[in-house]
Amino acid sequence: MNLKDLYINFFISKKHKQIPSAPVVPENDSSVLFNTAGMQPLIPYLMGQPHPYGTRLCDYQKCVRTNDLDEVGDTTHHTFFEMLGNWSLGDYFKDESIEWSFEFLTKHLNIPIEKLAVTVFAGNDLIPFDEASYNKWLSLGIKKERIAKTIEDNFWIAGESGPCGPDTEIFYFRSTDEIPDIFDPEDSRWVEIWNNVFMQFHKSADGVVTELPAKNVDTGMGVERTTAILEGVNDNYLSSIWKDVIALISEISHLPYVGNEKSMRIIADHLRTAVFISADPAGIKPSNTDQGYILRRLIRRAIRHAKNLNIDINSDWEQRIAKLLLNKYMGYYSELETNYDVVLTVLRDEKVKFNRTLEKGLREFEKVISKYNVIDDVNAFRLYDTYGFPIELTIELANERGIKVDEDGFNRKFKEHQELSRTASAGKFKGGLAGNSEIETRYHTATHLLNAALKIVVNKDVHQKGSNITDERMRFDFSCDHKLTDEEKSQVEALVNKWICEGYEVISQEMSKTEAISSGAECMFIEKYPDIVTVYSIGDFSKELCGGPHVTNTSEIGKFKIVKEEASSAGVRRIKAVIE
Ligand code: ALA
Repeated sequence: MNLKDLYINFFISKKHKQIPSAPVVPENDSSVLFNTAGMQPLIPYLMGQPHPYGTRLCDYQKCVRTNDLDEVGDTTHHTFFEMLGNWSLGDYFKDESIEWSFEFLTKHLNIPIEKLAVTVFAGNDLIPFDEASYNKWLSLGIKKERIAKTIEDNFWIAGESGPCGPDTEIFYFRSTDEIPDIFDPEDSRWVEIWNNVFMQFHKSADGVVTELPAKNVDTGMGVERTTAILEGVNDNYLSSIWKDVIALISEISHLPYVGNEKSMRIIADHLRTAVFISADPAGIKPSNTDQGYILRRLIRRAIRHAKNLNIDINSDWEQRIAKLLLNKYMGYYSELETNYDVVLTVLRDEKVKFNRTLEKGLREFEKVISKYNVIDDVNAFRLYDTYGFPIELTIELANERGIKVDEDGFNRKFKEHQELSRTASAGKFKGGLAGNSEIETRYHTATHLLNAALKIVVNKDVHQKGSNITDERMRFDFSCDHKLTDEEKSQVEALVNKWICEGYEVISQEMSKTEAISSGAECMFIEKYPDIVTVYSIGDFSKELCGGPHVTNTSEIGKFKIVKEEASSAGVRRIKAVIE
């Protein structure tokens, strides 16, 4: 049995309910481009909202972390990974959490206790030393020399704000050296495998820390790293997760892995992430902004490294690798099956597009560096604009030659040329996992009202095709075969405002998915939801299957105003609206 199945079975035996992995592109959270941790889709529940599955949950969650995209190529970095997690929402706390982690590691994964060490929170002005965790580890037989007390690394928060708390981290000695008696968390032979966060606080964006309504547990264990450890390999790409992918790349390129590790790892990693992003229900396509830009960078960087390996980049190499990945993960993630062909088309189209200019671009790059010892803003921008080189690719190529790129100059030029700058979207990574701000929550309920009003004013067959909320505006895509008339727009706006003024209560109910659908609840991607779902209804005009959060009464929304109505794609219109 593999790690994922062992883990889920174990926590089910401890009365946890398995919840489905949320999409990689977060819904209703514009503060990040991708889910970066298992807890992220659970933020509303960690903050106190009841979860339809109860108080003990477990899952494997698809995560994408792109902040160290350029590090990929070594033995441990990945842009996509799966995180195993178990949660207590106001149910069990430190005692059971630590006990079960210990039991799973030593009895089910059969890790000898001598190879384990832990860190616990040492205490600061705000939160005392975590004596309970310390004593629990001792009682389980971990020697005191193997329990390190730290401050910095034992307080967990995703980014700058959100639910947070002290944690205890579990380390494994990944070396054949003799195990030192005293555990030093800075010694790289000890690698962290599991993090148990005792999440009892919330930090707001302005730094105010408050107690959460319940004491929660949030844990995270990386599948890639732990699998490599269990299989005794020091290079993650040699574990069973990657072995077949690397073997295929080796077959396609007629080159051995040894000596070509970096390019092979980059191709394997980036194509896997591209498969998951393009299979996501959010329908991301390569573009020059946000998630689409990351997808583009991943595919183009993989292509560049395929070229390094002398792979015929016009052949079907990427289709073969993608199919292997799709088949490998399909049993766990149904969207890979549903969107199998979409993924293959995204990869092929982007490849064809980039291959058209790649050769010429590389020649142009050589020309520039033969003349100058720095790539200035004009040349960097030309490589981007004319030859489709993401700036990061130019920088990577330049680094390999020991040449600098005027990145600031490029960014200035980029801003001049683009409505939405890449820099602005990259800024989102720094934002942390704020969860939904109050204004976003108001926008969120407004989309339900807009959806309902469109059905009444325009056509009962209007359906939501997408939505995107920031704290400044909402964007709502819906199926419709014509441009809305001014009359229709003002009627929709008036109806939404009428419902806001009339102050309807927003009611949430839990029910089975089948019951929800037969009650006529609206839903965009039915396969994405667990068997038990939350349905939000407003008056007798709106009923939607949704993860929330929402305001409790429509009167909290504010004045609704449509700013723009435009085409989005064939048969889909887009409304941009604000609330004032
Ligand atoms: N949320 C915690 C982490 O990502 C478990 O480490």
